[in-house]
This record gives sequence, C-alpha cells and structure tokens, in this order.
Amino acid sequence: MNTVNSVAELRAAVARARGEGKCIGFVPTMGNLHSGHAALVTKAAQRADFVVASIFVNPLQFGAGEDLDKYPRTLAADQQTLVQAGCDLLFAPTVEEMYPDGMAVQTRVSVPQLSEGLCGASRPGHFEGVATVVSKLFNMVQPDLAVFGEKDFQQLAVIRAMVRDLNLPIQIIGEPTVRADDGLALSSRNGYLSPEQRAAAPHLYRVLSAMGEAISRGQRDFAALIADGQAQLEAAGFRKDYLEVRHAVTLRPAQADDRELVVIAAAYMGNTRLIDNLYLHLQAPAA
Ligand code: PAF
Repeated sequence: MNTVNSVAELRAAVARARGEGKCIGFVPTMGNLHSGHAALVTKAAQRADFVVASIFVNPLQFGAGEDLDKYPRTLAADQQTLVQAGCDLLFAPTVEEMYPDGMAVQTRVSVPQLSEGLCGASRPGHFEGVATVVSKLFNMVQPDLAVFGEKDFQQLAVIRAMVRDLNLPIQIIGEPTVRADDGLALSSRNGYLSPEQRAAAPHLYRVLSAMGEAISRGQRDFAALIADGQAQLEAAGFRKDYLEVRHAVTLRPAQADDRELVVIAAAYMGNTRLIDNLYLHLQAPAA
C-alpha cells in the first residue's frame, strides 16, 4: 500500500489504476482505525479492484469545544490496519492540502432537511462540514463506489441524498455496525471512556434493542417507548442528547404505519458522546 499526501499524487495513482481498467472503491475515514473501519475497507475490496482510503481529521465538521485537538492521530497503526484489510492506496492530506485557502472555505455543500435535528441539533454545521469534505474527497478520488458505516446513520442518509441530488456517479454502500461482544458499537471515541464508563456503555444498544423488540411486537406509542428508554439510559449513567424513533429514509418522526424505522440515539457517558442506532424493517400486516 502506498501512502500519498498530495492531491496530485492521489490523482496520478488513481489514474494509473483506472488506466488498467480497475474499478475504484473508496473509504473516507478520520483515522484511529478499528475493526469497524477495517470492515469498510474489506467490503470495498470485495466490490472494487483498487481501494483508496483517506485519513483526514476534518476541522470543518468539528464545532467549538468539540474534540478536534484531542482526536487521536495514529497513522502508523492505521497503515497496518489498512494493509491487512486490503487497501491499495492511502491518501493522508494535511489541512493545508485540503483547504489551501484556509477554513473560511467559500463553497460548502449542505443537505439541510436531513441535517436538521438528531446529531445536527447538538452539532450545528457538522453535516455541512461532512458533506463538504466528502464532496471534495469524491472529486479528488473519483471513485466508482464508496463505503460508509451504518453506525453514522444520519451521516449516511445525508451522503446518499447529496450523491442523488448532485448526480454524482458513485454507488454508496452502507456497511453494518461492528460491535464489541457486549454490544457496544465500535467507535474511535470509545477510547475516551474510563473502565467504569466502558462497562456501562453497552446499555445504549441494550435500550435500543429493547425498544426495537417492542416495536416489532406491535408497540406504536413511540412517545411512551422513548420516555421509558430515556429513563433506562439515565439509570445506566447516560446524560441525554436524543433518543428518537424515525422513518429510516426521511428521518422524520415515525408514524404508526411506517415499515422502515430507525431507533436512533446519542447520549453522553461522562464527557464522551456515543451514538448508535437500530434499523427495523417491519413486515406489512397480513391482509
Ligand atoms: O465518518 C467519518 O469518519 C467522517 O465523518 C468522514 C465521512 C470521514 C468525513 O470526514
């Protein structure tokens, strides 16, 4: 696997692969890679002939007071993970390479409706930062397909909408969340948890799963389910950000006859904000 830092080197390497008739797969990341990221690269390697990954901690998607400065930078270990997962080329640009005119970047991509609410409510500007950097990376790599984790459910919805609305010729593939044995979704931010917090953190997925089971059994009083789930999260030591039941495609609040739902949450364990979700595809009732 080669590592390149400039857009010019990236374009030259991708052009060579394309010249050999290869299909290009892409996995954008912010580094500090774990087996969840490795699964994205493995999926890209199954679907494409040449896999590009990027590592770039994008300042544009971090708000004031968020963890931009302390976000872990672990390039050497990440390179090993990428090689083992089947990556062919790593693009690891500097902030200057990505934003040569500085962070007051003029052109931004926003997907307003899907970016409102949920994570967008407590992280204003976050999804504009994500959509902008992902468009830039798509234009730099020009992949045939790109793989994103379903753990970042709202992000995936925003990117799918952006690709559709801008007619980008890129297939977007969602890869299921990779979990620890106790159910906790793997995340670079899990490393911030103390041992006690780590032991309590799997309650997030347990609460989502219990809500999902209740919905699958026919419960449609979403407000009551949410209130109950919230109480359970607080009892487990979480501080509230949001817990919602939404339509899985539009992300609007769920209605009783929806068939595609997502139970989706963000909650703080100490200072660490964890997100998770559970997708539900319900059978239509027998006629
Ligand atoms: O999911 C992430 O790691 C980031 O939001 C992404 C997609 C790499 C954009 O910076």
